[in-house]
Amino acid sequence: MAEIGKDINKARQLVQAEELVAIPTETVYGLAGNALNSRAVLKIFKVKERPEFDPLIVHVPSLFAAERYVDHLPDVAVMLAQKFWPGPLTILLKKKHIIPDLVTSGLDTVGLRCPDHPLTRELLEALDFPLAAPSANPFGYVSPTTPQHVQDQLGEKIEYILDGGPARVGIESTIIGFEGKEPVVYRMGGLSIETLEAQLGKIKVQLHSSSNPKAPGQLKSHYAPRKKIILGKIEDLLQKYPAHCSSILTFQKDYHSPNQVILSRSGSVDEAAQNLFASLRSLDKMDADVILAELLPEEGLGRAINDRLRRAAAK
Ligand code: TXA
Ligand code: MG
Repeated sequence: MAEIGKDINKARQLVQAEELVAIPTETVYGLAGNALNSRAVLKIFKVKERPEFDPLIVHVPSLFAAERYVDHLPDVAVMLAQKFWPGPLTILLKKKHIIPDLVTSGLDTVGLRCPDHPLTRELLEALDFPLAAPSANPFGYVSPTTPQHVQDQLGEKIEYILDGGPARVGIESTIIGFEGKEPVVYRMGGLSIETLEAQLGKIKVQLHSSSNPKAPGQLKSHYAPRKKIILGKIEDLLQKYPAHCSSILTFQKDYHSPNQVILSRSGSVDEAAQNLFASLRSLDKMDADVILAELLPEEGLGRAINDRLRRAAAK
C-alpha cells in the first residue's frame, strides 16, 4: 500500500531519488517522475504498463520554466500559456535535447503543461527539473480523480500519493499543437473548444482513433472500464438489455434503478466531467453485465465527455 499524505517534502525527496509519486492536478491524478532522467521515466512506463510509443506530458511550474525545454516558442503558444496556464491545456512544442527521447517516444515535440493545483505547483517550484506525468492509472483504464483511485490500482507499485483532494475538472487536459502556424486540437479535454476558439477563432480538431505515434495516444479504445459500455438512448437500450442485468449512466435523468449513476442532476456538463471517471469506476463494480450510457449535449466539456464515452464503448 502507498502512503497517502500532504507532505510536499516527502514527495520532493522521492522524485529527487528517481522514484515515482502520484500527484494531484485539477484534471486527474498523475504518476510523476523526473522528466530529465531516463531511469525515472522508464519506471513510469513500467508501473503504468504503458507502451513506449505513447509519449508523456511534462509538467512545469510556469511559462518561464517551459522555455528551458523548448527550441522555439511561437507567439500564439505564449499567448495561450499566458491566458490558460496554470490550467487544463497541454501545448505541443519543438523540444530541446535535454528532454529525453523516451519522454516523447522519439517525437521532436514535447507536451508541456502547467497544472493548476497548489500542492503540485509548490512541488514543481521546489524542484530543478520538470515532472513527466501520465494519468496515474494502468494503461487503457479510466483516469484517477481521487487518491483512493490511485491507491486501488497502483498502491502496490508506488510509495507515496500526494493528497490534493478530488480533482476539480475531472477529465484530462486539452492537447493543442501546431501544423506550421495553424493550431490543431489533438485531444479534447478540460479546456473547452469554445473557450479556445474565443481566443483563436475556428480551430481544427483532429482526434485520432488509432495508435499513430505521431499523434496523441488517442487509441480508439481508451478510458475504458472493464465492463462493456453500450451507448444509445436509454429507453431503447432497456428494451434490449433488461434492467436487472444492466447498469445505467445518464446525464440528468433518473430511471429509479438501483444500478444507476446520474452525472449531474442540474444538467451541468462541468459537474458531469467532475463525476465521470468516479462514476465509471463505480459502475464497473456494480452487479450488472453491461453499462448502458447516453451521450451528453455536444457543448462545452460535453464534447470531451462524449469523446471518452465513445472510446470507452469501442472495446
Ligand atoms: O490532464 C492531463 O493531461 C493529465 C495530468 C496528469 O496532467 N495527464 C495525462 O497524461 O492525461 P496521459 O499520459 O494519460 O495522456 C497524455 C496524452 C497521451 O495521449 C500522449 O500520447 C499525448 O498526451 N502526448 C504527449 N506528448 C505528446 C507529443 N509530443 N505529441 C503528441 N502527443 C503527445
Ligand atoms: Mg491517460
